Amino acid sequence: MNSIPCFQERLKLIEKVKNRFITLAKKRGDPLYLFDKKEVQKNVQMFKDAFRKEGVDVHLFYATKSNYYPGLLKTVVEEGENLDVSSRRELDLALKSGAKNIIYTGPAKTEKDFELILKHHKKITVNLESLRELELLAKMAKTKKTIVRCGVRIYTKMQTGWTKFGIPMEELADFFHQAQRHSSILFCGIHFHISFNKTSEQYVKTIEELACYLKINLTERERKKFEYLDIGGGFYPQQWQAFYGWNPEQKTDLSTDCFNVVFEDKIRPRTLPLNVQPIELFAKKISATFKTKILPLLPCVTLYAEPGRFISHSSMHFLLNLTDIKNDRMGIADAGNNMVGWELFQFYYYAPIFNLSQFTTTREIPFITYGSLCTPDDIWGYYMYTKGQPKEGDILLMPYQGAYTYTLAQEFIREIPPVIDLEY
Ligand SMILES: Cc1ncc(COP(=O)(O)O)c(C=O)c1O
Repeated sequence: MNSIPCFQERLKLIEKVKNRFITLAKKRGDPLYLFDKKEVQKNVQMFKDAFRKEGVDVHLFYATKSNYYPGLLKTVVEEGENLDVSSRRELDLALKSGAKNIIYTGPAKTEKDFELILKHHKKITVNLESLRELELLAKMAKTKKTIVRCGVRIYTKMQTGWTKFGIPMEELADFFHQAQRHSSILFCGIHFHISFNKTSEQYVKTIEELACYLKINLTERERKKFEYLDIGGGFYPQQWQAFYGWNPEQKTDLSTDCFNVVFEDKIRPRTLPLNVQPIELFAKKISATFKTKILPLLPCVTLYAEPGRFISHSSMHFLLNLTDIKNDRMGIADAGNNMVGWELFQFYYYAPIFNLSQFTTTREIPFITYGSLCTPDDIWGYYMYTKGQPKEGDILLMPYQGAYTYTLAQEFIREIPPVIDLEY
């Protein structure tokens, strides 16, 4: 039995919708992304509630980069939340979705980026990344006689390896003083981010480091000018992705021997869960540190967060058709990894594949589902949930795969499949 959190609960949901998915697949006859608005609503509320329970009203800015599907952006906005963007393209999408509050993050912002930001400055807060950005934006805003709300991205000891972003925390006071020289800049925020956090440790330790620094390096009066602390994204969801038991280090040089390992099926467990803390625990620890370390120093500050993966991970399902059976151990689907942009499921993650035409939640067999691209490096998975032997024409479902998939899709050989909004 699969030991991944949420697995049983989500299986029940699939069981409920499977007939509708089969009808849809037969009607369309092509691979599809299915967009599940309810999942987005659920994830947004789960995130907000976790912090609310700890007495913190976190302002959520969904990271558009994790899945830019306009229906998803609109859902976040309809839930009363905000968007985080990192390019003009994403800003356009955010504006079209009706977002009223947008954070613009990301390194190497150009004059063209700032032109668009200035055009919509009333809706935007800019997380600056360098002194160059500060000086350029200040000059451009002054010419336009506007004031832009800004913060700066910092890195501390906790962001090792992420030093291309922002400024070292030790330069924050200098940056703050430089920003005060510009009447066109309302400098009021601090931001940090790293991805793939399975516990709250990264946030808690960064906040603690920051608090020590602020206490010594800025006066009480200066600290009162800060309005937000933006802790970025990186909240790993308790999803049902896992590592392969026979490739726990996620090696990318798998030889064909690995297929024998799969077919012999002697390795137990076949998959290893990611072991992620529940969001409630993230929220509990972050909120406690925010309240005890930050609020006494920065009394006017609101907590901002930019979750991407957490909101989008379950927002999309992939519907594929098993087109060719090559032998009793492998077949080829009508869609390739261009749907997810890279070898996500070949080397990195296991995610379950369900044969909807022969639906079961209890029998998962070794069976390689290849994609249809021109390379053997195009694999959806090494196992399949199926009642009987997979057959040509079977309909396959890879549920809950919305984070960094659709957004990375590419027109390599095949077109990017359409997205269908699920109606409830
Ligand atoms: C600045 C920033 N914020 C938020 C995110 C979203 O991260 P995640 O999807 O891991 O929550 C990213 C991702 O790279 C990011 O760079």
